[in-house]
Amino acid sequence: MGSPIAMWVENKDFVNWTEAMSVAPVDDDAKVRRVTRLRPGHADFPGVFKYSQHDVRPILERASARETAARVAAGAVARRFLEEFGIAIHSHVLTIAAIKARMPEKIDWDAVEASPVRCADPEAAKAMMAHVDWCRDNGDTAGGVFEVVAYGVPVGLGSHTQWDRKLDGLIAQGMMSIQAVKGVEIGAGFENTEKLGSNVHDIIEPWSGDARPFHHVTNRAGGIEGGMSNGEPVVARMALKPISTLSKPLPSVDLDTGEVVEAHYERSDICQVPPACVIGEAVLATVLVGCFLEKFGGDHLEETRRNYDGFLAGLKQFRPKAAKSRGGSTASKPRL
Ligand SMILES: Cc1cc2nc3c(=O)[nH]c(=O)nc-3n(C[C@H](O)[C@H](O)[C@H](O)COP(=O)(O)O)c2cc1C
Repeated sequence: MGSPIAMWVENKDFVNWTEAMSVAPVDDDAKVRRVTRLRPGHADFPGVFKYSQHDVRPILERASARETAARVAAGAVARRFLEEFGIAIHSHVLTIAAIKARMPEKIDWDAVEASPVRCADPEAAKAMMAHVDWCRDNGDTAGGVFEVVAYGVPVGLGSHTQWDRKLDGLIAQGMMSIQAVKGVEIGAGFENTEKLGSNVHDIIEPWSGDARPFHHVTNRAGGIEGGMSNGEPVVARMALKPISTLSKPLPSVDLDTGEVVEAHYERSDICQVPPACVIGEAVLATVLVGCFLEKFGGDHLEETRRNYDGFLAGLKQFRPKAAKSRGGSTASKPRL
C-alpha cells in the first residue's frame, strides 16, 4: 500500500532497569547502578565527554550492538524483496583470532548455517571454538574476519558519477557502522595490493550465461567496479576487533576520583564474529535494496519488475551478432 512497515522488538530486560537507569530521581541512590570506570576500546571515554555524562551507563547501553536487532529485522524485509529478483545473501566467518578457515571450492551454505561459528571449514571451526573457550577461561576476548556475499546482483547498481552513490562506498559505510567493525574490504582488496595489476584485474570475455553480453572470468574485484555492480557476486569482508569488555579488565581510570583502577566489567560477550555475520547480511540487503530501487524505481513490486525486466532486455543491444561466447559453463556465476 505504500505505508511504512513497522516492527516491534521487545527488550525483556527493560523492566529490570527502570530504577537503576531512572530518568527521575529515585528514593534510594543504591538502586542506581552507575558505571564510572571507563573501559578501553568502548564508547565510554569519548561518550561521557561528548554528552557531558557523569555516568557511563547511558553511553554504554546506547552504544551496545543490541541496536542492530532493529537493523536485522528491517534487513529481513529487504532480503525478502531481493529474493523476488533472484538475489541471495550469505555470510561466513573467515578467521577468529589467527585461525584461518580453508576455503572449499564451493561453499555449502547449509553447513555454514549449522556451524556454531558459521565457518565453512569444519577443522578450523573446531579450533575457533577451542580458542573462544580459552578466551572465556582466561578473561580475554577474540575478534576476526567475516565475509558477506550477495549472489544474483544485476549489473549497474550504484554509480560512478557521485561519491555518495557508489555501491562500494555505501557498503563500507553500512558495514563500518556495525559495532566493533574496524576494517572493510571489497573482494580481495588488501591481498590485491601485493600483486601485479595483471594478476588482479578480472579478465572480461563474451558471455551468454545471463542477460549480460560479457562477464568477468574471475571475481577479485568483489563484484564492484567504479562504484557499480558488474553482475558478479558482491563480496565484502569485515574486520571485527576483539570485544572490549574483559572479565580480566585492563587498567583504566575512575571518572569520579581520577584514580587508576581496573576497567568496569559486567556480563559481556567473548567473540561476536559469527553474530556480526548476520548483521552484515542485513546491512548488505538494506544497501542493495536502496540501490536497486534507485535504479529500477517503482511503487509496486510488479512495476519494479517491469522496469528490471526492461533493463535486462535492453542489454541485448550490446550483444555482438557474431561474437563467440562461452555460456553457462560456470555454475557459480550469478543469475540475473
Ligand atoms: C554482535 C555484537 C555484540 C557485541 N557485544 C559486546 C559485548 O557484549 N561487550 C562489549 O564490550 N562489546 C560488545 N560489542 C562491541 C561494542 O558494541 C563496540 O565495541 C562498542 O560499541 C564501541 O564501538 P566501536 O568498537 O565500533 O568503536 C559487540 C559488537 C557486536 C557486533
